[in-house]
Amino acid sequence: MDTALITGCSRGIGLALVREMAARGWHVLAGARHPAAAHALQAVAQNASPGSVDILTLDVRHDESVQAAAEEAAAKVRRLDVLVNNAGVFPENGSESLEQLPLECFEDAFSVNVVGVARVTRMFLPLLTRAAHPRVINMSSLAGSIGEKEDSRYYCYSASKAALNMLTRAMAAELRPRGVTVVAVTPGWVKTELGGPNAKISAEESARSLAATIDRVSHHDAGQFLDRDGNKAATTW
Ligand SMILES: NC(=O)c1ccc[n+]([C@@H]2O[C@H](COP(=O)([O-])OP(=O)(O)OC[C@H]3O[C@@H](n4cnc5c(N)ncnc54)[C@H](OP(=O)(O)O)[C@@H]3O)[C@@H](O)[C@H]2O)c1
Repeated sequence: MDTALITGCSRGIGLALVREMAARGWHVLAGARHPAAAHALQAVAQNASPGSVDILTLDVRHDESVQAAAEEAAAKVRRLDVLVNNAGVFPENGSESLEQLPLECFEDAFSVNVVGVARVTRMFLPLLTRAAHPRVINMSSLAGSIGEKEDSRYYCYSASKAALNMLTRAMAAELRPRGVTVVAVTPGWVKTELGGPNAKISAEESARSLAATIDRVSHHDAGQFLDRDGNKAATTW
């Protein structure tokens, strides 16, 4: 059984991806900051086939939390085929001017959306490099596209996702010789707490496309910025 770790699974896209990948036969390690409060995730784990979903306590901002999760994962699985760096925050209203914006929003966005990805990826590398075809999927956003940027909205979130795209390229270059494929993927505009009620697609629809793309990602995609269906032409850096 192939194994995947997904971060940020208490709700939204992460939760839907746990359900979708477990249904496709993956053994999913589902990270959540507060598993006891993640009732929807617990229900998914209970309804999935036995042994297909394990919930790990994992806060991507803290070394100790990620280290403990990596140790718990190593006790459960021999290798990790896929890491989905899904946990993300959008710590602003989105329409603040430069003068209004609390600067701590940059720290919040970068600590989860960028530093958290670097932290989780490096701490899970020993498990990833034991897989035959390990993949790291960084959940990015078109908001991180410099080429598409034409307004001043979402200062912190956009800057953090642009930084995540650069982190993706750098990690892809370093890890490719070690057999690890790293890509950035956009999930679409998705109806979640982060995406809001006006978004275009459900978390389930996004997760179906993402899971199919995760299955198909190959070393030819290393360092690419893909849409949820795996197309690179649809996204601009
Ligand atoms: N929705 C969209 O339209 C959209 C578009 C483009 C990209 N994305 C990206 O897709 C990913 C998932 O977004 P979503 O829409 O599903 O958002 P969401 O519904 O707000 O869910 C975010 C998840 O991240 C978790 N999280 C936040 N901080 C964390 C931390 N420090 N450690 C571990 N987990 C943490 C949250 O857990 P708690 O419950 O503990 O807070 C929650 O499970 C994000 O990276 C987002 O940027 C979303």
